[in-house]
Amino acid sequence: MSDLTKRLDETAKWLENRIGWVPDVAVVLGSGLGALSDSIFDKMEIPYAEIPGFPQTTVPGHAGTLIFGKLEGVPVVCMKGRFHHYEGYDMGTVVFPVRVFFRLGVRNLFLTNAAGGVNLGFTPGDLMAVTDHIGLWADSPLRGPNEDELGPRFPDVSKIYDPELVKLAADVARINGFNLQKGIYSYCRGPAFETPAEIRALRVLGADAVGMSTVPEAVAARHMGMRVLAISCITNMAAGILDQPLTHEEVMATGKMVEKRFSGLVAGIVAKWGA
Ligand code: HPA
Repeated sequence: MSDLTKRLDETAKWLENRIGWVPDVAVVLGSGLGALSDSIFDKMEIPYAEIPGFPQTTVPGHAGTLIFGKLEGVPVVCMKGRFHHYEGYDMGTVVFPVRVFFRLGVRNLFLTNAAGGVNLGFTPGDLMAVTDHIGLWADSPLRGPNEDELGPRFPDVSKIYDPELVKLAADVARINGFNLQKGIYSYCRGPAFETPAEIRALRVLGADAVGMSTVPEAVAARHMGMRVLAISCITNMAAGILDQPLTHEEVMATGKMVEKRFSGLVAGIVAKWGA
């Protein structure tokens, strides 16, 4: 057993002893999705700081917690607060929680994020199911000696986002009365937003949205054979599309505006996913 799997199992064991059951789905809440935790019942909320071996957040006021409970009757664990590469964490740290969930027995990963719209047909407030990604310039979380206990050296990622789950997501959106966009999410390192030239280049490459998360977690999860779904909230049009500067405030404000629709979608998907 490697040092990593030992550390993963120590953290997973601690959580298992504390909780006593295994979640069906792990949900990573992106910026502005915090309110989803209000829909979780029989809640047990554990600050990252209390979890042995768990990465700690460096940003004051963004402590981060794991929320165990029932969403639409489905046992879930939610990450409120994730770790980004741009904050200075290495990729192993960024994906540590996802690997802990797997060792705990969780087989389904639901990633959410805020993203800029690269596709000119998108409007801020749109929700998009990720059908594939461009992560060419992301350091791989799998770099280094392969962890054979987690997955193969050269994993196939040709269906990294489960097509059946994308279809399920679109069905739930339709039932909820709106159209779910589908598209390619491109990873950028941040923390600066992209330049207009970078966005034009990404559009030529086929990107529909751009963001600073999700790809590392999706790769690590697929490496272990987890089923992955990712939904982006298009919080702003990407750089250079509109004649206005990009701000974190705009990202947060749009997130807030569609929070209800986004939370309803996530809950509806989890209900059917876990059924
Ligand atoms: N670029 C990168 N990440 C983002 C953006 C963006 O325009 N909006 C929200 N997250």
